[in-house]
Amino acid sequence: MAVTQGMIEKLLASISHPRTGQDLITADVIRTLSVDQGHVKMVLDVEEQDAQAMIPISEQIQTLINAVEGVTEVSVLLTAERKSDAPPNLKPNQGFAPPEHIEGVKTIVAVASGKGGVGKSTVSANLALALAKSGLKVGLLDADIYGPSQPKLMGSNGRPVAFNDQLIPIAAHGIKVMSVGFLMEENRALVWRGPILANAIQQMLHEVAWAPLDVLVIDLPPGTGDVQITLTQKTPVTGAIIVTTPQDVALIDARRAMDMFEQTGTPLLGLVENMSTHICTHCGEEDDVFGHGGGEAEAKAHGIPFLGALPLTRVLRETSDQGTPIVVAFPESAEAIRFVEIADKLAKVLKI
Ligand SMILES: Nc1ncnc2c1ncn2[C@@H]1O[C@H](COP(=O)(O)OP(=O)(O)OP(=O)(O)O)[C@@H](O)[C@H]1O
Ligand SMILES: [Mg+2]
Repeated sequence: MAVTQGMIEKLLASISHPRTGQDLITADVIRTLSVDQGHVKMVLDVEEQDAQAMIPISEQIQTLINAVEGVTEVSVLLTAERKSDAPPNLKPNQGFAPPEHIEGVKTIVAVASGKGGVGKSTVSANLALALAKSGLKVGLLDADIYGPSQPKLMGSNGRPVAFNDQLIPIAAHGIKVMSVGFLMEENRALVWRGPILANAIQQMLHEVAWAPLDVLVIDLPPGTGDVQITLTQKTPVTGAIIVTTPQDVALIDARRAMDMFEQTGTPLLGLVENMSTHICTHCGEEDDVFGHGGGEAEAKAHGIPFLGALPLTRVLRETSDQGTPIVVAFPESAEAIRFVEIADKLAKVLKI
C-alpha cells in the first residue's frame, strides 16, 4: 500500500509534545511534511525551551515512520528557530551580544524579499557565480531551512564531511555552498546539537569552514520573520539586497523588507528587479508582463542603489532547474551579462 500524508499525520497525532502534552499536529510543530514515493520528509520546528526534550521525540518519530510499510526513507529535521511567543525585537542589536565575527569572511550579503517566489534563490546563485567570475572567493549559504533551493539550483547533492569540528562546504561551479538540503537526505533524523540547536543558521555560519572568503551570499527565505531578524542581530551582515518583481503587490512586500532591515540597522546595498520584462523564446519580443520600472523607482524612493533588472526568460528557469545557473551554462547570454553587471555594481558598493 502506498504511504500517504494522511497516514503520517495520523501517526504524528499519536505522539505527545513533551511540555504541553498536546499531540504534535495540534502543537503545530510540524513543517513542510512531504510524502513522495515512500520518502517522508519533515521539519520539526520547536521553541528554544523545548529543543532538548524534542531530541528523543524526533528519534521516536524516525523509528515509528521507518516501521510503516512502504516507507523507504525518512528525514526528520529538528530546529528551534522559533522564539517563544514574544514579539520580534527589532531594535538594532540592543540587549544582544554583538554579532559574532566569522573569521576569514570579509563581507556578508543577505539576499531578501518580502514576497516569496520572486527569484531570490535564482539571483543569489547567479550573483554568487558572477562575483566568483571576477576572481573573488565566494560562498553561498542557503538560509531557507524549510525549503532549501540551492542543492537543486547548483546541481549538487553532495554530503558535507566534517573536519576539525567544522563541516566542509560543498564545492559547486567554483564556489562553496552550504544548505540544509545537503544534510537532510540521509536516512535518519538530523538533529542540531546542544546549545547551537537553538539556531540552525548560526550553526551553518559558524560551524562551516567558509574561510577564506571575499563574500558570503546568503539566500534568505521569503518574508520578514525570525530567520531574517535573528540573522541581522547575530551575524555581522555587511548589508542586504532586495529582490522584487515590478508589480505593486511585490513592491509593497519589498518595502516591508526594506523597513525591517532599516529598523535592525542593516545597510541596504541595493535592489534588483527580477522578471522585469518577458522575452519570448520564439520571437524575441520583449513584453512588460508586470509593468517594468517599479523596482528602479522604489530604489530611488528609498535612496538605495538600483543594481539592475533581469528579464523573465525560459532559459533562465531551465538552466536553474538543470543545476547549472545561466552565468555558468551560457556566460555569453544577455541574462548572464546582466548578472555580471549587477555583480560589478555590488562589488563597487561593497568596495571589494
Ligand atoms: N528571471 C527569471 N526568468 C525565468 N524564471 C525565473 C526567473 N527568476 C526566477 N525564475 C523561476 O521562478 C521560480 C522561483 O524562483 P526562486 O526559487 O529563485 O524564487 P525565490 O524568491 O527564491 O522563492 P522562495 O520565496 O520560495 O524562496 C523558479 O522556478 C525559478 O527558476
Ligand atoms: Mg528561495
